[in-house]
This record gives sequence, C-alpha cells and structure tokens, in this order.
Amino acid sequence: MKKNNQNNIWGCNKLKMLPRLLCINDYEQHAKSTLQKSIYDYYRSGANDQETLADNMAAFSRWKLYPRMLRNVAEIDLSTSILGQKVSMPICAGATAMQCMAHEDGELATVRACRSLGTGMMLSTWATCSIEEVAEAGPEALRWLQLYIYKDREVTKQLVRRAERMGYKAIFVTVDTPYLGNRFDDVRNRFKLPPQLRVKARCFSSVPGQFKEEKSDDAREAVKHGLDGILVSNHGARQLDGVPATIDALPEIVEAVEGKVEVFLDGGVRKGTDVLKALALGARAVFVGRPIIWGLAFQGEKGVQDVLRILKEEFRLAMALSGCQNVKVIDKTLVRKNPLAVSKI
Ligand SMILES: Cc1cc2nc3c(=O)[nH]c(=O)nc-3n(C[C@H](O)[C@H](O)[C@H](O)COP(=O)(O)O)c2cc1C
Repeated sequence: MKKNNQNNIWGCNKLKMLPRLLCINDYEQHAKSTLQKSIYDYYRSGANDQETLADNMAAFSRWKLYPRMLRNVAEIDLSTSILGQKVSMPICAGATAMQCMAHEDGELATVRACRSLGTGMMLSTWATCSIEEVAEAGPEALRWLQLYIYKDREVTKQLVRRAERMGYKAIFVTVDTPYLGNRFDDVRNRFKLPPQLRVKARCFSSVPGQFKEEKSDDAREAVKHGLDGILVSNHGARQLDGVPATIDALPEIVEAVEGKVEVFLDGGVRKGTDVLKALALGARAVFVGRPIIWGLAFQGEKGVQDVLRILKEEFRLAMALSGCQNVKVIDKTLVRKNPLAVSKI
C-alpha cells in the first residue's frame, strides 16, 4: 500500500531510479517514506509508551564485543541447523502478520526470498496468504507455522493438520497474547486491514513443538512439557510494555534450560553484530520481524532477499573480525555487559 505522493526523501522516484539502501535502517527509512502512514505505524509500533520497543534495540549496544585476533579467518562458515534442519545462516524470517499490506506478494515473496537464501520462514497465523499458498510458492523452503491457540480447539487442530500436510516443519506456539497489546498509533489511526485483503492462514499445534516465551520459570515448564525449543521473544515489544529487552533476558533462559532444548531470539535484531551477540549469549539462531517488512515494502521478494543478504554479510564480517571461522566457536567469552568505566581519579 504505497502513499499517493511518490516523491520521498530519497528523491529517486521521479528519475525511476532506486535508492541505494545499505543497512536495515535505510530500508526502514525508505518504507516510512513510501508506505501509508497507518500501515507503516502498524508495522513499526510497540505497545503503550514503547519503552520495550526502544530497549530491544538499545540493549544490544550495552553488550560489547571482545574479538579474538590472530585466527585464520580466510574461510567463514555461517551454516547451522535449526531443530535438525540445515540452514545457510542462523538468521530467519519471523512471523509478522498481514505482509500483503507491505507488498502485494506478501508472504509469497518472503518464502521465496528465504528459499533463495537457504534459510527458514515462520508464517503468522494472521498471514494474508494461506498455509497452502505459501507452501506452493516455496515447496522446498524451510517453513514453520506460528500458532495462536484458539478457544475453538477444532479450529486450532485444523490449522496444525493443514501445516503438517503442507510440509511445515514445526509449530511455534505464541503464548504471550491472551489479549492484544495496546498500540496507541493503531488506535489514533483507526487502523484496519485494507478491505481487499483478508487474514487467510488462521491457526494450529505441534509437529515438533515450539514455545515462544520469555520468563525463566516458563522456560523450565516448556522443557518439562517436552517442547523442542524456546524462542525468547517479547512479540517485538507489542504486548506488555516494560518487560526486558530480549537480549537481556536471553542468558537467564539459556541457563535455565541447561542445553536441553534449542533457544532462539527475536526482537531488535538489525545488524550482523546483533546476531553475533545473540549467538555468543547462547541463541542457536535469531529471527527478524520488521526488517522483512521493510524489505518487502521496497521491492517485494528482491527486497527481502537484499535485507537477508545484508544481515548475512554483516554477520560474516562480524564473525571474521572476531576470529570466528564457524558458528560453533561463538561463545560467551566474546561478549560482556557494561564494561568497567575506568576511573582516572
Ligand atoms: C507488524 C508485526 C506483526 C507481528 N505479527 C505477529 C504474529 O502474527 N504472530 C506472532 O506470534 N508474532 C507476531 N509479531 C512478533 C514477531 O514474530 C517478532 O516477535 C518481532 O517482530 C521481533 O521483533 P523485530 O520486529 O524487532 O525483529 C509481529 C511483529 C510485528 C512487528
């Protein structure tokens, strides 16, 4: 959904030239200048005063990198596996609702881009393309379904069955949304899904199970219930405002689960160094939400590819400059919080 007036801060549309976007922030600024305000605000916003929204990103800067030198970094291997499935890098597309508002191809563009980068996509229950359409657009892509548990358990079950049938490899059950968070911009803008679009995916439960959660006690509970992984998430700061940034919550959760399940993180990941910090603190992989939307808004499938490629290349460079040849050697000795301020008195 583009703004009518296409003359934007980048000043390129008149000349039919595309601007050169170099980092995720550039993509966001471009999306801000081209998307309708209510749509941009819907994607960008967090809940209430957006304290957690700001902190999700700021917290990464409080963790400092302590790189290793004198290592052979001629070849860097970024590949890893997620719940037994190989991926080219530990960076995946997270579940964000209603992607067709950002680009007409929406979730179909995202799954194709993930496939071409060799990574995975999590499809939202509130997607604007169906479980089947996304599977058909990316039959070989690694796909997972994000699940809201509906009061009508039959609806929920049907979603799980459809995902199983269509080859989705896991279910990520979102557990932080008994009610929707209060997003002031959406109220002010009277945000509604544009009438030509509809939510098509709708809900389902467990192929391999997953848990999208963030409290320690809850993490132990998840392990007890036999789930295979935990995604440390605060829903992109769109639910309870005032909860910690996910990167700050991560170490406690990694400790609580004692290596029994894979732990993932999302929230505020915008740079390759963010990915490195998350892995150093124990995440197996990260998911990005809004960056995918900004890529879609710029150029659909190609825009998402470029966003993922930027994150991949930034992560590769961060690994190389830290002396890491592969993801297995990334460990907590690489990061420290709040380095001592040295007093000269
Ligand atoms: C616009 C938008 C829509 C979202 N929709 C969903 C959703 O349908 N289901 C869900 O579990 N999480 C949803 N999330 C949360 C994301 O899965 C993810 O936790 C978050 O985007 C990560 O933060 P980031 O955007 O800073 O990368 C949404 C987030 C945004 C920004």
